Amino acid sequence: MGYKITVERAVQSRISEVDFNNLPFGTVFSDHMFIAEYANGKWSNCRIQPFGNISIHPALSALHYGQAIFEGIKAEKDADGNPIVFRPHKNAERFNISAERMAMPEVPEELFMSALDQLLTIDKDWIPNAPDSSLYIRPFMFAAEELVGIKPAEHFIFCVFTSPVGKYYNQPVKVYIHDKYVRAFPGGTGFAKCAGNYAATMMPVREIRKLGYDQILWLDGIHHRYLQEIGTMNIFVVIDGIIITPSLSEGTILNGITRDSIITLAQDEGYVLQERDISIEEVIDAYQDGKLEDMFGTGTAAVLSHIGEFNYKGEVYELPPVEGRDVSNKLRDRLTTIKSGKAEDMYNWLYHVPVDVYEAQMQ
Ligand code: COI
Repeated sequence: MGYKITVERAVQSRISEVDFNNLPFGTVFSDHMFIAEYANGKWSNCRIQPFGNISIHPALSALHYGQAIFEGIKAEKDADGNPIVFRPHKNAERFNISAERMAMPEVPEELFMSALDQLLTIDKDWIPNAPDSSLYIRPFMFAAEELVGIKPAEHFIFCVFTSPVGKYYNQPVKVYIHDKYVRAFPGGTGFAKCAGNYAATMMPVREIRKLGYDQILWLDGIHHRYLQEIGTMNIFVVIDGIIITPSLSEGTILNGITRDSIITLAQDEGYVLQERDISIEEVIDAYQDGKLEDMFGTGTAAVLSHIGEFNYKGEVYELPPVEGRDVSNKLRDRLTTIKSGKAEDMYNWLYHVPVDVYEAQMQ
């Protein structure tokens, strides 16, 4: 089924006000956004309109009960200046996995991709050129029931906006490994990209920020022993030449698309890579034996970001200087050159937006 998307263009673009050499992450928004509404079992009223506030009812169920999910995707430009998007079909798939867990309707891939196609065609000049910059795409969906009463909603809004961004982390990340608070447990929502997973981390994150740390590296919710994820990123450790990352099998961590890409590239480079449980004791033993060579995180926003140090039970563990971290530096370079279209796209990860088709349609 084709979705009719109406387009209302911004009267005046804001692009000339933007300093593309200084883009603090998530603070600048491009001219347009996409909105669709779900009622009576179908998506309708699909439109692109000028970016701006949306009016909501005070009893809107997402605000009270948290039925809300989101995605993060990045676009860069090809040699002709046209948008290339990194693995957006995987985001569409994960969005619907999150939607199912949160009793929200499926957004058909065709609708998801049409929203991206048209938004990126109309706002393609907002894709930055500078190294380490890209256009961050934020699709999200929330329950729009206007009712005080707890029940799975029947009305939803699906929205996509874009934001030109620079680096998420400018320094190696300092992580705090909590032995008190947890993020997820089997049977919960850890694998879903839902708002509540992030809400529950805010108070512990505020505490560790006062201690000078950037983020929490979460341990599992039952034993408080096994590494899970960082919240902004999946986690990888390199011990004695072996790359290890927690497996997805418990359903407690996000199935990261950058995580999956790094696993593929690591195997392609011939590294030994293990997806398995890894306990904090194993990491600390490796550190004490001089075998902990690297720790890094992966995510759409963070790309591949090195961990500079971690704190566990008040002890600080400093990781080696990033210049010497050959494994992660090589993997990051391979990923970023593929994403920017500068290296062969051997896994068919890049989606080229058919701007000519959409420009003709939108005349
Ligand atoms: C992403 O990487 O896209 C996320 O949603 C995480 C957040 C740090 C922006």
